[in-house]
Amino acid sequence: MPAVLEPDPLTVGAPVPDVVLADADGVEVPLRDFRGQPLLLLFFPDDWDPARAHQLAIYNDVVRATPGAASVVGITVERGWCELDVAGGDGIRFPLLTDSDADSAAAHRFGVAGRHAAFVIDAQGCVRWRHVAAAQPQPDEVRAGLLAALEPRAVGPSLTRREFLMSAVAASLLTALPTPDARAQDAPPPRTNEPGARNVTLNVNGADHRLRIDARTSLLDALRERMGLFGTKKGCDHGQCGACTVHVDGRRVNACLMLAAQAAGSKIVTIEGLARGGELHPVQAAFIRNDGFQCGYCTPGQIMSAVACIAEGHAGSEDEVREWMSGNICRCGAYRGICKAIAEAKAGSTT
Ligand code: FES
Ligand code: FES
Repeated sequence: MPAVLEPDPLTVGAPVPDVVLADADGVEVPLRDFRGQPLLLLFFPDDWDPARAHQLAIYNDVVRATPGAASVVGITVERGWCELDVAGGDGIRFPLLTDSDADSAAAHRFGVAGRHAAFVIDAQGCVRWRHVAAAQPQPDEVRAGLLAALEPRAVGPSLTRREFLMSAVAASLLTALPTPDARAQDAPPPRTNEPGARNVTLNVNGADHRLRIDARTSLLDALRERMGLFGTKKGCDHGQCGACTVHVDGRRVNACLMLAAQAAGSKIVTIEGLARGGELHPVQAAFIRNDGFQCGYCTPGQIMSAVACIAEGHAGSEDEVREWMSGNICRCGAYRGICKAIAEAKAGSTT
């Protein structure tokens, strides 16, 4: 029988195959569900906890040689998201997927079957940085690979700050990969299913997202914490400010007052899903033209509410707009611009 040739590991610039992976809760998710944001994909043993305290020192050692690189003061990994606290600056948060089966279909399609590897995948689904380690990765080898990625490239642009930080996390993980003996001694207890957890599929902005969540998770927390859709804001978390307004089956709802599980089977639209083909929704454009915001915190909720207010036929006069938008509070007091924007968008929708 002819030998089956394994593909070479995917190279920088290559589009990634649409493999299906298990997320932190064991739910299978296609890689394409993460399109639109960069993510880190690790082919790693699953008894490895990337947020161990000594990881910080290794990370900072990895990036020490990089001019201008920020040191990291905290790494948190929770439910498939990695959050970095960067000294004196903005931290970053990104999806972190792992595949611990060295012989999985995904490992074969990435060309890394039987090996430890890390891939930083950009928002368009192409490899931006990768490292495929030998059985026991060598720190110098990994560090050199990271620094080389900062050099001007023959293929594709250099790493963005976010991609660099993600690559450095991956490099530090690979560098700190324990030997099999050390792993056996240090293995955490096996993960058990939390009571009350359930699988739900949420259709958000036209895409299905399969999640395993606590049954008490609000739609707002599912959008922000599980899907990374931070446009929907958390103000009061008690249904009093309207900052979290989204559309569910065309109706405006306060996402903080709705359980995510209740929204399964419905069409959910958030502020990220309002623009079409790169063009702002007329209400978004009207808010910009009419200074319908100041700090902007309430604005996504105001816009989602305004779109529904017009569609409901409740924007016939300024008094009516004020009444039907009264669930959306603006601490900056930008109400005058908000009313003008809604009037303008309403007039545009009827001409
Ligand atoms: S955050 Fe939902 S109404 Fe305030
Ligand atoms: S623009 Fe600041 S809260 Fe409304």
